Amino acid sequence: MANQPQKRKISFSGIQASGDIHLGNYLGAIKNWVALQEQYSGVYSIVDMHAITVRQDPKSLRDNTLRAYALMIACGIDLNKSIFFIQSHVPAHAELAWALGCYTPFGELGRMTQFKDKSAKGEDNINAGLFTYPILMASDILLYDADVVPVGEDQKQHLELSRNIALRVNGIYGNVFKVPEAFIPKVGGRIMSLADPTKKMAKSDDNPKAAIALLDTKDVIMKKFKSAVTDSEAEIVYREGKDGINNLLTIYSIVTGKDIPAAEKEFSGMGYGVFKPAVGEAVADFLAPIQKRFDELYGDKAQLEQIYRENAQKAAEESGKTLRRVYDKIGFVPR
Ligand code: TRP
Repeated sequence: MANQPQKRKISFSGIQASGDIHLGNYLGAIKNWVALQEQYSGVYSIVDMHAITVRQDPKSLRDNTLRAYALMIACGIDLNKSIFFIQSHVPAHAELAWALGCYTPFGELGRMTQFKDKSAKGEDNINAGLFTYPILMASDILLYDADVVPVGEDQKQHLELSRNIALRVNGIYGNVFKVPEAFIPKVGGRIMSLADPTKKMAKSDDNPKAAIALLDTKDVIMKKFKSAVTDSEAEIVYREGKDGINNLLTIYSIVTGKDIPAAEKEFSGMGYGVFKPAVGEAVADFLAPIQKRFDELYGDKAQLEQIYRENAQKAAEESGKTLRRVYDKIGFVPR
């Protein structure tokens, strides 16, 4: 109907909560999830089912999931604009993943570089879930008719696979799935390790100084920035080859909202000994209100439980519709 409000487009993304969520996750991913809520209806998830492709301690998985859930809301996921749920609470994900697996050639999965890298490391738990993981990711996305999927560069190939699966199923049965687009941020997409700025900031890093957890205390943040690896020059400029300084300038620019040239100007002529703690201060100031909000949310378990249940319910409704549509096309007898 002409006077009906236009349905907002959908932004979908998921994050694993297998460790502490860090600044790289925030600047590279969560920040975009939050920004996209202005234009899109968000559907966002803590993907605990993806997390078990590597062995998890049950108590840690439960704690990390709940902490991440509260932390993401503290970061700005707005429950009036987005549905935000815990993946294992919504059964359609596993169900659709089974079906989509039957439309995904083995060889296509075998080409996924993340799987190849992980299996090449010769770890002892190369399980089938690690191999079929991109199918579950495709299910996450396709269940909500997502238009855009904000992801980091490392997930581009998985997103491409999701698109291929959608196109293949559409090719067989007609229009079943919306074919999603990746949304890959230009700036902030890659926040690097503070200990080795040629490597991405990662939860899995053995060096505790590599990453700034969003819940790190100011003291810890300052220490980590003061010991951030830079270079042997003395110039605070963004330039090829200055990975450490480039990373610090990027972080500073994002948390303060100033652009890189403005940041360069602000610190021109100063030494790294002044610059590094200044970035630390800016990050600590930026994180303070997020940490405060987290404490409130995480401190009230009854309220938190009510929120995630309500959101799982909403997600189940939306995804249930898609699953029924797919089952119908496939030829399953209606329940
Ligand atoms: N695979 C993503 C990662 O490891 C997480 C993820 C799971 C995801 N499902 C998703 C991201 C759906 C985007 C859309 O980072």
